[in-house]
Amino acid sequence: MKTRITELFEIEHPIIQGGMHYVGFAEMAAAVSNAGGLGIITGLTQGTPERLAAEIKRCRDMTDKPFGVNLTFLPAVTPPDYPGFVQAIVESGVKAVETAGNNPAKWLPGLKEAGIKVIHKCTSVRHSLKAESIGCDAVSVDGFECGGHPGEDDVGNWVLLPRAAEELKIPFVASGGCGTGSQLVAALAMGAEGINMGTRFIATKDAPVHQNVKDALVAATELDTRLIMRPLRNTERVLTNVAVERLLQTEKEKGDKVSFADIAAEVAGVYPKVMVDGQMDAGGWSCGQVAGLIHDIPTVKELIDRIMSEADEIIAHRLKRFAA
Ligand SMILES: Cc1cc2nc3c(=O)[nH]c(=O)nc-3n(C[C@H](O)[C@H](O)[C@H](O)COP(=O)(O)O)c2cc1C
Repeated sequence: MKTRITELFEIEHPIIQGGMHYVGFAEMAAAVSNAGGLGIITGLTQGTPERLAAEIKRCRDMTDKPFGVNLTFLPAVTPPDYPGFVQAIVESGVKAVETAGNNPAKWLPGLKEAGIKVIHKCTSVRHSLKAESIGCDAVSVDGFECGGHPGEDDVGNWVLLPRAAEELKIPFVASGGCGTGSQLVAALAMGAEGINMGTRFIATKDAPVHQNVKDALVAATELDTRLIMRPLRNTERVLTNVAVERLLQTEKEKGDKVSFADIAAEVAGVYPKVMVDGQMDAGGWSCGQVAGLIHDIPTVKELIDRIMSEADEIIAHRLKRFAA
């Protein structure tokens, strides 16, 4: 399938794997890229620019296809070494970067000068337009369904995608809630040029995470995610568990007065415990409503091939019936 996104990133299928903390290692990115999508290494998970450079090299040893790096700009008292991460990316020769979390304007000139295509992930039309105006090549439009940070506007992709199509000139992909070929076709119908998936890629044989995480996704339904940190305006959609329910109880009791310190035990340092050790009640970890559509643990290649053949079949047969 050819779209503006496959052409931009020189990939076979219009499917991107969004950056995921403690999931986006070389194994994940290479598996997606080898299957014809765009795999993404998560920059901050690597800890230092040197380790990111080493992870990019490891990924390059596993695939000769294009892959990218996610750079998440977090509000932090002591910010990560962003100049160092950007330099490591530029020097590595990687040709795609997914930015997220905050306006990437400061880092765009350096990335563009190196010939890197930048896709910015946003949860609103206004942020997408801002990304377009500062020179991003594409955007990932993250609907309210998404795993991770859906923003504070709460607009689902059913409305957000056609709204993005009304306004944007640069290509965009549908992000949030995606996991099937029918959703890819629907996204294309609404003006997107492909899809970005996070949660669905975790439940694959290739994802370098503990088996407990994959099993939890298969067991979960679309009703099992919760929104945490809403009172802090840092909303995150996570899979529910004992720690998440405890956190929500704290938020309820403290109301508007809740501070990060009140819930730190349930959100700080959680990812290695969940993704590496498989401690499923360690705290809140990002998970989308698409969990309800996850029923198996295929390889990444099987998953991408399935999505593409379902999409092709729908376009060639089911939709034809309605074209009178
Ligand atoms: C476990 C997990 C960790 C994530 N970590 C990050 C991250 O570090 N940076 C980022 O930009 N997005 C992160 N995301 C968001 C994904 O890149 C993607 O936008 C989102 O998962 C799309 O929604 P979906 O899960 O419904 O497919 C994460 C998502 C998950 C599920």
